[in-house]
Amino acid sequence: MLSIQQKHQFDGQGYLVLNTLFTPQQMNELKAAASSIVKKFDPDSTRAVFSTQDQTKTRDDYFLSSGDKVRCFFEEDAFDAHGQLKQAKSLSINKIGHALHVLDPVFKNFSHNDVITQLAFDLGLVKPQIHQSMYIFKQPKIGGVIRWHQDASYFYTDPISVITFWFAVEDATIQNGCLQVQTNGEKYPLIEQFKRYQDDSTELLKLSTKPWPQDKDALPLEVKQGSLVVFNGLLPHFSAPNLSDKSRHAYTLHMTCATSQYAQENWLQAKASPLY
Ligand code: FE2
Repeated sequence: MLSIQQKHQFDGQGYLVLNTLFTPQQMNELKAAASSIVKKFDPDSTRAVFSTQDQTKTRDDYFLSSGDKVRCFFEEDAFDAHGQLKQAKSLSINKIGHALHVLDPVFKNFSHNDVITQLAFDLGLVKPQIHQSMYIFKQPKIGGVIRWHQDASYFYTDPISVITFWFAVEDATIQNGCLQVQTNGEKYPLIEQFKRYQDDSTELLKLSTKPWPQDKDALPLEVKQGSLVVFNGLLPHFSAPNLSDKSRHAYTLHMTCATSQYAQENWLQAKASPLY
């Protein structure tokens, strides 16, 4: 499926863009499926959660127990001081996660398609398995910044094997906060590790003092609907806030190789979904 040059680019630069690999229709089906989940989602079911006194703990619980569920997560400031949504529910959701690839028929079918499976093998995953799926809305005007990070911090394996599949459900541009990747040619060590302990406390452990790249070393990946960006777990990346009036929907899969050792301290311990 991938040419030798494409494999070299992935190995050398840590990422690869496959322009319009999927059809607008395939992307619109994902969009409709996400919209249907949001329609059925009752914001009152979690408003209580977000208006309790111990907000941080209840938010953490909602997140940490979502590995094998389909849950909607609100934007940081979706609610006003009285616990009321500031705008329409459909424009207040930050993302849906984290088991769409298992529980939702449309996302399950798409995530296990032959093209993705073949790509996973071509990219070096001998036994590819999906750990997590997310549908990200990057809402117009309020879609927030995602700071520099590496995905292996959240999916630690020995050896490091996680590969992210990032599908552009809508056109991604600089204006609406497209993905930006480090392209200064440096190889980065793993800088942080997000750990979940047995008592469900969490910690973002600093593993290296190496500073994150500067924004000027980032390449904005402006891609059309249906494009796929794949990148390895050590590639630093970020996305700027969406200040435009257009959303920037994306679907992501995080895959690891089953022959590597998946860390017990990773926050997500749901059973992985094999592609082999
Ligand atoms: Fe990421």
